[in-house]
Amino acid sequence: MAMTTDEILAFRKKHFLATSVFYYKNPLHLVKARGEYVYDLEGREYLDCIGGIVCISAGHNHPKIKEQILKMLKEDEIQHTSLLYLNSHPVELAKELLKEAPEGVDRVFFTNSGSEANELAFLAARQATGETIVINLRHSYHGGTSATLAQCGHGTWKFRAQPSALNVSAMEPYCYRCPFGKKPDSCSLECAKNVETTIQTSTHGKIAAFIAEPVMGVGGFIAPPKEYFEEVVQIVHRYGGKYISDEVQTGAGRTGESFLFTKALGIKADMVTMAKGLGNGAAIGATLMKTESSDSMAGKLFFNTFGSDPYQTMQAKVTLEVIREEKLMENAKAMGTYLQEGIKNLMKNHSLIGEVRGRGLLMGFELVKDRESKEYAIAETVNLMEKCREKGVLVGKGGLFGNVIRIAPPLSINQKQCDRVLKVIDECLTEMKKEV
Ligand SMILES: Cc1ncc(COP(=O)(O)O)c(C=O)c1O
Repeated sequence: MAMTTDEILAFRKKHFLATSVFYYKNPLHLVKARGEYVYDLEGREYLDCIGGIVCISAGHNHPKIKEQILKMLKEDEIQHTSLLYLNSHPVELAKELLKEAPEGVDRVFFTNSGSEANELAFLAARQATGETIVINLRHSYHGGTSATLAQCGHGTWKFRAQPSALNVSAMEPYCYRCPFGKKPDSCSLECAKNVETTIQTSTHGKIAAFIAEPVMGVGGFIAPPKEYFEEVVQIVHRYGGKYISDEVQTGAGRTGESFLFTKALGIKADMVTMAKGLGNGAAIGATLMKTESSDSMAGKLFFNTFGSDPYQTMQAKVTLEVIREEKLMENAKAMGTYLQEGIKNLMKNHSLIGEVRGRGLLMGFELVKDRESKEYAIAETVNLMEKCREKGVLVGKGGLFGNVIRIAPPLSINQKQCDRVLKVIDECLTEMKKEV
């Protein structure tokens, strides 16, 4: 017998880690999913605009992926083998993935998660450079393992027992809340220059790596301009570091620009990490790197029991195929633009919306109590999420203070569904006005 919602909740509260959190006052008990929709225990349907956390790219239970899983099971394909043996699935995925990589990036290692993908990137960068310090950005998030947690730019994830791998934070390229008080017309990319100042003031003058997300996901879909990356890559290389582009959220075509956003932005990255949408829900991550970094690790062993698992790599390969065949990147771009325009339109009637931003279907909007002071509207963001849920639309939230609504649906979302999202958000914001 399946457990009831109350039983699950009671057990989790008593026996799961105290750090366990839930979306919603009455946490949602999800049991089924198809396409852009998920269903709770009572069979209630929700339009899924967050996909777990930005993991569903091709759509829930995509028929082609389902068919391949069933075929593998039916034919008794090996459930688990490790890289100590040969199997075609990881190689087939690698072949396709490397076609999407930035120039010169031609090595790959599969992991189970984004955290592990970044851990490996740090290790390789440190091994290749002989240096230890990694520069990260304030407001960034790179994972929950030791080395990645050390590179986290959010107080929420900082423990008293925080791992203290050598790391230094540079200022965030956050145009809406520019830490240098600049406006677009007075900006001289102070944030990019700050990476150099940070290296000069907080390191001995050489670094192992710089890590950044092309769009800062957990930070609230902060999307720095292309020029920021052009300048930063040069700085990082000047100080001997490897540029790590964390595409755990932006990858798998989500921005609608290219399968890896690093490529569209022209970032001369030395390494790119992926996870989340790569496997459309399967637990898989990847670290892509240049041969020189990979070669620096030769002679040592680096191993991951489940990395390169046949089922996970098969799912990621078929996900990539579906994204190409169904032109989901093009759709992500079109629907992302449509949603952004729609929310911008809502700004006329809803002063709570301070800024709309993002790339493709990694888009969101920041809620502020007042557009002038930009005071964080934290409780209002929670309220909006709850109301959207009541009306059958699931959205996420993010930002340092949790005041950014995050919208990252399956890349297959259509215009009619986007219209529903916009209508629901409009209705909820209108109701909220009446509550004041
Ligand atoms: C940008 C980014 N990097 C890395 C991670 C860590 O990935 P995982 O949770 O799969 O370990 C996340 C997770 O949210 C992320 O958003």
